[in-house]
Amino acid sequence: MALIFERPSTRTRVSFEVGVTELGGHPVVLREGETQLSRGESLRDFALVLSRFVAAIGIRTGPHRTVEELAEHSAVPVVNMLTSEHHPCQALADLLTLRERFGDLRGLKLAYVGDGNNVANSLMLLGAAAGMEVAVATPEERRPSLSVDGASVTLTSDPEAAAEGAHALYTDVWVSMGDEASAASLRTSLEPYRLDEALLERARPEAIALHCLPAHPGEEITAGVLYGERSAVWDQAENRLHAQKALLELLVA
Ligand code: CP
Ligand code: NVA
Repeated sequence: MALIFERPSTRTRVSFEVGVTELGGHPVVLREGETQLSRGESLRDFALVLSRFVAAIGIRTGPHRTVEELAEHSAVPVVNMLTSEHHPCQALADLLTLRERFGDLRGLKLAYVGDGNNVANSLMLLGAAAGMEVAVATPEERRPSLSVDGASVTLTSDPEAAAEGAHALYTDVWVSMGDEASAASLRTSLEPYRLDEALLERARPEAIALHCLPAHPGEEITAGVLYGERSAVWDQAENRLHAQKALLELLVA
């Protein structure tokens, strides 16, 4: 499997590399600047050639269109390992974590608080597909633009309303890769959306805290919640490996 990283990664890189190896495959990691894409080779030619060498292609990049274009021309499955718009492999691991903790996903309430980013978009899509209720609380100007059919996804600017009765509270970084130029204004507008102990109190007594990582304790989540007994964050990180191996078995085996 070719694993193309045009942006940094800890979890995605290691979990895919280990997962492919555990499945008996060979991961080929390619970083930005290491292929002829960086010298103008077209995505079309890149996809046509890689399809002759590998069983699947994973890519982490900024523009979502890049993944789509690669998939249009590739004869092998293309896996989105994060774009500015979506992070589906993360959401698969998140649903696995919720299933481990609560059993059936149907009817669970997941509350996401923070920036309406790629992680929020993927949770809305996968959560709704799994029959969950997904409440997303963001500042109005950072509301996800994605619209998901059905009444199971609600968008609000009130984090406490979103957290009410939730089985899980979820947050992500305030400054995503590519958003560095707006870091100061993002930090100001997201200040009321921190996942802290008070917000967790609004959720169900058995509620867990989730974060896709990397975390910035004191910013989008308190250290007390991140490292506390209601945190499922480390299981969630481990589940990247298991969920992606299942995905590859489905796509390639
Ligand atoms: N959650 C996640 O995708 O982490 P990395 O950016 O470290 O891969
Ligand atoms: N929203 C974050 C997720 C990192 C895994 C980003 O895109 O940087």
